[in-house]
Amino acid sequence: MQKDLNTIVADVREKVPAIKTRAEFEAYKATISGPKGVLTDVMKGIGKVPKEDKPAMGKAINEAKMAVEAAFATVIEGLEAAELAAKIGPAIDPTLPSPDPARGTLHPIAQVREEMVELFRRIGFSVAEATEVESEHYCFDALNIPADHPARDMQDSYYLPDDLSVNNVSKEGDEKYLLRTHTSTVQIRTMLEEKPPIRIVAPGRCFRRDTPDATHSANFHQIEGLYVDKDVTLLDLKATLDHFVKTIFGPKAKTRLRPSFFPFTEPSYEMDFFSPDLGKLSNKWLEIMGCGMVDPEVFKAVGIDYRVYTGYAFGMGIERIAMILQGVDDIRYYYQNDVRFLKQFA
Ligand code: PHE
Repeated sequence: MQKDLNTIVADVREKVPAIKTRAEFEAYKATISGPKGVLTDVMKGIGKVPKEDKPAMGKAINEAKMAVEAAFATVIEGLEAAELAAKIGPAIDPTLPSPDPARGTLHPIAQVREEMVELFRRIGFSVAEATEVESEHYCFDALNIPADHPARDMQDSYYLPDDLSVNNVSKEGDEKYLLRTHTSTVQIRTMLEEKPPIRIVAPGRCFRRDTPDATHSANFHQIEGLYVDKDVTLLDLKATLDHFVKTIFGPKAKTRLRPSFFPFTEPSYEMDFFSPDLGKLSNKWLEIMGCGMVDPEVFKAVGIDYRVYTGYAFGMGIERIAMILQGVDDIRYYYQNDVRFLKQFA
């Protein structure tokens, strides 16, 4: 009997794929599981089987039934799909708009930017933006950067021609336009527009007259952070930066603030971090950003009362963070648009 069952199942598996219509299917199905079907026959035979063989026989019949039903179910599925296809017509509808071309992925710099912005968003920062063309006032003066500061030198920054007119950026007298050298300009523009409490991050493109090499590019990106409120202290800055570093580089990362100088913060620091799991860069202090408490001179420039409010600010290069995270050792790879490079970050 087991042999009969095997033959039936084998026959079903062989014939079923060739079935093209429901009528064909019904006719074939009748020869197997109809009242006079071969499988039905075998099942009827169980009455004559000795009692001790019945359990084994029952099990064998069940298995055969299941195999046959599964094969039949596939046929039905196929027939239904074919019927539906016949109803809806040819697979191509020339009246539909053309599909979008294959989708790419975010550029590796954009991926890191998004990760950073998202992290700060989760702790209450919103995103601010401003122009890439700036006047000297917003890029330097309002940030307490003195007239003789080297950043203001023609050799260090990209100044635009005097006769250029830029509708959305105002300038006064013989002030010049230039491409912003840092995102700290967004601090000024935000504080002029909003009243404290202010909590923003500003990702954006910056420009400096650097000779390109493995770590310098004339065009690069920064993320600026600014928090202004009553009673903001250095502890708030330190805690926020700790959170940032641990989220981006892992819970074992440590931070350190090293005294430094920026005209727009007082006191000012360079923040370094240290991580045991960074491959080649493990276990050494890496400098990643400038930061400090907003200088009262900056509050004066934007009309915020420095006796009531305090704040902190930080700024860092996105490329620097990306290079550490992605193990890239030459910044120029990011701008060459070589698909072999970009694909590694898909
Ligand atoms: N603007 C500074 C730079 O480009 C970084 C910075 C931002 C430092 C905010 C302190 C506060 O180097």
